[in-house]
Amino acid sequence: MKTLRTIPDVRAHVGAARRAGRSVGLVPTMGAFHAGHEALMRAAREACDEVVVSLFVNPAQFEEASDLDAYPRTEARDAAIAAELGVDALFAPPVAEIYPDGFVTAIGVAGLSGVLEGAARGGHFTGVCTLVCKLFNIVAPDIAFFGQKDAQQVVVIRHMARDLDLPIELRIAQTVREPDGLALSSRNARLADADRERATALRRGLEAAQALIEAGTTDPRAAEAAGRAAMAAADVEPEYFSVVDPDSLERVQRVAGRVLVVVAARVGPVRLIDNVLIDTEPVATRAHPLDGTAVVGHS
Ligand code: PAJ
Repeated sequence: MKTLRTIPDVRAHVGAARRAGRSVGLVPTMGAFHAGHEALMRAAREACDEVVVSLFVNPAQFEEASDLDAYPRTEARDAAIAAELGVDALFAPPVAEIYPDGFVTAIGVAGLSGVLEGAARGGHFTGVCTLVCKLFNIVAPDIAFFGQKDAQQVVVIRHMARDLDLPIELRIAQTVREPDGLALSSRNARLADADRERATALRRGLEAAQALIEAGTTDPRAAEAAGRAAMAAADVEPEYFSVVDPDSLERVQRVAGRVLVVVAARVGPVRLIDNVLIDTEPVATRAHPLDGTAVVGHS
């Protein structure tokens, strides 16, 4: 596996692959790999001839300098994992390669960027979109791989790609979880033992809401109340717990078709998010204008 630091080196590498007729897959990451990242790399390895993984702790998507500084940086370990999984190139640029002096452009997805995670973290999704758009332009992949764990990120990037006519297929891998249901995240390492136990409350809350919806409840408030109650039992208060439309991210008035249940909560020093996508209709009757993506990976 090659480690590439500059944009011209990535262009040369991908250009050679293209001339050889190889399809190109991109997995954008901030490193500190866990099994969630590995699932995306495996999916890319299966689907594409040439797999590029980007590793860049993106300053533009952090609000707090202290958060950015605290983000784990484990490139040597990450490179070994990527190589083991058959990744062809790791693009790990310095900050100045991505944001040179005088960089002033930003890509914002209005509306969608300001709700849920965006309400709590102003500017976050603009930072994500600006970087991901640059990566799409630098690597020009056929397929880019993202995790359902960050459901809002997927919705925002999908809208950006559609609005800007970026000719890239997005594939979304299901959330990889610990045996007790906690979604894998590089932040989990910062949970002390007692908080680690309480952190399963997010998944318990989602399961409670999902059980009601799958039993036929059409009132989203009933599902939200069940989820909040399940979380309260573990002494965790959500920042939000909402049943939303999977494309607009607006709270639904009534549960029908596909709904996304999203939750965020602070557990000890760590802010955690999770979600579940529920389809209440048989696939054959579904018509979704934005649903051009496949779900890959394990559940
Ligand atoms: P990062 O948090 O490193 O995540 C990289 C990719 O791994 C994202 O698509 C994320 O959704 C996915 N992922 C994280 N945890 C997962 C899990 N438990 N199961 C499945 N997939 C999981 O998300 C980012 O980086 C950044 O915002 C990025 C898109 C790279 C832009 O900087």
